[in-house]
Amino acid sequence: MTYQEQFEEIVRDQLARVEAMKNAPAAPDFASKETIIIGTIDGDGIGPIIMDACRAILEKVLADDIASGRIQLRRIEGLTIENRIARMETVPADVLAEIKECDLLLKGPTTTPAKGGDMPNLESANVTLRRELDLFANVRPVTIPEKNIDWIFFRENTEGEYALGSRGVDINDDISIDFKVTTTIGTKRLARAAFEYAKNNGNKKVSIITKANIMKKTDGKFLDLCMEVAREYPQIETDDWYVDITAANLVSDIFASKFSVFVLPNLYGDIITDEAAQLQGGVGTAGSANIGDRYAMFEAIHGSAPRMVAEGIAEYANPASLCRAAVMMLRHIAMTDEADRLEQALDGAAEDLNMPGDGTGHTAKDFTDYVIGRL
Ligand code: IPM
Ligand code: MG
Repeated sequence: MTYQEQFEEIVRDQLARVEAMKNAPAAPDFASKETIIIGTIDGDGIGPIIMDACRAILEKVLADDIASGRIQLRRIEGLTIENRIARMETVPADVLAEIKECDLLLKGPTTTPAKGGDMPNLESANVTLRRELDLFANVRPVTIPEKNIDWIFFRENTEGEYALGSRGVDINDDISIDFKVTTTIGTKRLARAAFEYAKNNGNKKVSIITKANIMKKTDGKFLDLCMEVAREYPQIETDDWYVDITAANLVSDIFASKFSVFVLPNLYGDIITDEAAQLQGGVGTAGSANIGDRYAMFEAIHGSAPRMVAEGIAEYANPASLCRAAVMMLRHIAMTDEADRLEQALDGAAEDLNMPGDGTGHTAKDFTDYVIGRL
């Protein structure tokens, strides 16, 4: 294909994506649903270890609902790097079909081959799933009580720099071009999710994060549309910041605690949420929710930690991040009591257990026993 043809194909695909978004199905009403199917996906590396822990914990928290059949935990196999490489599919078609039969997904970390490594250049499974299931909002809370910090990030999750991340074009040996895509519908639905959250949870301020002075079209549109949505919520203060100074302000004693709700395009959200999670105590401590209208997927914010596996210390992996994601999942389906109980048990584990991730301290099994004991 010539690069002109590649450009044309990309534009056609993006126009089709916008049409599909316009026809997206409405959100299911979980309260009236007879059975809610939760698919669990182990992932790679430390994934099976932390998922075993999290499943055992969920089986305890949800014992009554599992017994009555209202909740079904369903193991989804085959989203492993070995199977994905063998099939040369980022998410093998039969696995995707199984995933689409679920309502909610709890997902361990999946390995993404780096470009130029010894694995084939497969797209990230996360990115594919977010796109295939149209999980447009990536919601990541971070709290640091002793610093009076209570943040929640609404990261755009299906477009921006990620929409065409694997479809950049080498024009010739001298020039390569990647793409960043902002759509009206994709931005407005994210902004609305953030402002609705602020309204329903008593958050007083929403901050819009871009680099609209440089990325004038895409970030410019993102900022304009977020401001347009903000006008529907006059009771909520709205401000906007560039992403670079935001990164600095998150570690500022003066500014950090003044932030509340953030709305960000995809790549800035990726970077800023790692920074925020690190401030909270490490990327292993934060949960992450990928929310769409039809599906929602909850995952650990960290990767598959191949180094821990190679060093033979995988059993020391901390299931906390995945379990925090499970708390968000329970809240998503309005199981507030269960979510509160699990959260308290996890807070206890964070206080009482020592899990530095270097092969010393408590193991994932110790963590599981502790949390189940607290429930
Ligand atoms: C995240 C991760 C992913 C991302 C990777 C695994 C593709 O860093 O969820 O933040 O870049 O979005
Ligand atoms: Mg990230």
